[in-house]
Amino acid sequence: MTTTPAIQIAGLTKSYGDHAVLRGVDLSVPSGTIFALLGSNGAGKTTAVKILSTLLKADGGTAAVNGYDVAGRPAEVRASISLTGQFAAVDEILTGRENLVLVAELRRIEDAGRVADDLLARFGLTEAAGRRVATYSGGMRRRLDIAMSLIGDPPVLFLDEPTTGLDPQSRIEVWETVRTLAGQGTTVLLTTQYLDEAEQLADRIAILHEGRIIADGTLAELKQLLPPTTVEYVEKQPTLEDIFLAIIGYDGREK
Ligand SMILES: Nc1ncnc2c1ncn2[C@@H]1O[C@H](COP(=O)(O)OP(=O)(O)OP(=O)(O)O)[C@@H](O)[C@H]1O
Ligand SMILES: [Mg+2]
Repeated sequence: MTTTPAIQIAGLTKSYGDHAVLRGVDLSVPSGTIFALLGSNGAGKTTAVKILSTLLKADGGTAAVNGYDVAGRPAEVRASISLTGQFAAVDEILTGRENLVLVAELRRIEDAGRVADDLLARFGLTEAAGRRVATYSGGMRRRLDIAMSLIGDPPVLFLDEPTTGLDPQSRIEVWETVRTLAGQGTTVLLTTQYLDEAEQLADRIAILHEGRIIADGTLAELKQLLPPTTVEYVEKQPTLEDIFLAIIGYDGREK
């Protein structure tokens, strides 16, 4: 069975002035999978996500989401996606439930209250529903942020650094949320600088470096890019961090 990939990018380029950030990015994300886009600070992850979510125009190349070209069919793309940005978009003054109802009403969903209550239950926020977001922990805010982005059941979800700044427990909570969504058929493209996050969550991993995708595959495939460990007393598989640093040619590590 062949299905259209949820996200398909070919030869994508983008410069800010004379700073070429994306220099020909190719990527294909199968429907219903979790795909992690890795890259250092400034690699262009957010730029790529903004182009895919129609917030920014590419200079060249093509990108399609849910079968729709981002340049030619932006309205259809926007109806197919949700974006949780690098910085949480929740309103602190409102309660968790009020945030959800507000977004549902903005999207002209009829039974906004019921949709809000369903999402609160799904994300373990029912007890906190009536509290102002200002009193939430970082993990609760992130979960609320992701819950807000799911209103309207978009098939493709972009999560730009969903767990940056969260403690390990909250990160695990967000991971569980993402796994559940993918299990229900949502395609998730997440960007991260945390290599263990990609290792834990992603079906496929791509590394964006100096404007191009320099590696793309499953974790097992990426592990094969390094020579197997030779004679060692303790058998040690390369971590994704080892692979990442080797691929980007970083050799300044301390012993
Ligand atoms: N609007 C802009 N104008 C000029 N330069 C920009 C603009 N937005 C981003 N850049 C530059 O483009 C490069 C890529 O930025 P981008 O935000 O896409 O990186 P990133 O991979 O998301 O980084 P981070 O991990 O820090 O979030 C950076 O060098 C950044 O300074
Ligand atoms: Mg970014």
